[in-house]
Amino acid sequence: MEKTKRIIQKTVDWFRVHKVPLPWRESRDPYRIWISEVMLQQTRIETVIPYYQRFLEELPTVFDLAACEEEKLLKLWEGLGYYSRARNLKKCAEVLCAQCKGEFPQEAEQLEKLPGIGAYTAGAIASIAFGKRAPAVDGNVLRVMTRLFADKSDIALSKTREKIAAQLKEAYPEGAAAGDFTQGIMEIGETKCIPNGVPLCPSCPLAEECETRRQKLWEEIPYKSPKKERRIEEKTVFLLQCGEKYAIEKRADSGLLASLFGFPMADGHCSEASAREQLCRAGFAVQSIAPCGSAKHIFTHVEWHMIGFWAQVETPLPCYLWKTAPEILESVALPSAFRAFRKIIQKNG
Ligand code: ADE
Repeated sequence: MEKTKRIIQKTVDWFRVHKVPLPWRESRDPYRIWISEVMLQQTRIETVIPYYQRFLEELPTVFDLAACEEEKLLKLWEGLGYYSRARNLKKCAEVLCAQCKGEFPQEAEQLEKLPGIGAYTAGAIASIAFGKRAPAVDGNVLRVMTRLFADKSDIALSKTREKIAAQLKEAYPEGAAAGDFTQGIMEIGETKCIPNGVPLCPSCPLAEECETRRQKLWEEIPYKSPKKERRIEEKTVFLLQCGEKYAIEKRADSGLLASLFGFPMADGHCSEASAREQLCRAGFAVQSIAPCGSAKHIFTHVEWHMIGFWAQVETPLPCYLWKTAPEILESVALPSAFRAFRKIIQKNG
């Protein structure tokens, strides 16, 4: 407890002097904190900044988000990935508007009952926006804390996260210091106690408290049990062009990239002959077809290994939506899994 208290004090003091100015640090508005924290899960800070700014310009309040059309929302999210985050944001905004007059509850336990808000996000909002004693344990905090105590627990297990949250909660500060500690310990994880390579202990404000540093164990801690290997799925992507327009389709409402738009696809890697044959079977008169490159996309549990064929077809059959390149680029939220193929139509106009 004494050591945890010292860690908290040193982190708060350091953060107040060294914090990086970031757009979501300019306000204590829980809506803004919430959006930033959801975007920052699984996405790097530099990537998030322009998305965050655009999102708040378009949807400055929880009421705007609740009323936003899904297509517009997905367009604002295009390229950030994990699109269920965006859908959950809207669902949560609807609940807040319908049941709480658009006001966020202040306690982490209440926040956690809202759709899409887990322990981490609830803790981040409660501590940063409302100054509550609520830990927000992300991967950075897990790394910093296990290293400070030379704790070899498996950070892939939720019980490790729960143990660290409970340890921090006992000693958590209140008021402005709560938010400063939440952000400070994450920032130490991002800038000093880095995940890959040698940690920058000489400039870390917690170096004196760090048992891993004393025992030179940073290669062993944090310990993470190996993940299951990702399944590899081979796919063939079709860039079907009819005049100025290209085929896109709304994907199935379950599975990867559910309900988002994409280019037509087939399972497996087709040869040119079998790609042509598939198109003919679907009723297309194919004028020409040629390979147009390959791309990989990594999801959490699956990798898509894609090859593409670019085909000119005679008739825009109604099994697909047909749109010009500018229409696709400007108004369709096309997931980044299709980035390589999107670039081709962008170049071609
Ligand atoms: N990573 C995720 N959220 C963060 C925050 N609020 N401050 C610093 N790093 C973060």
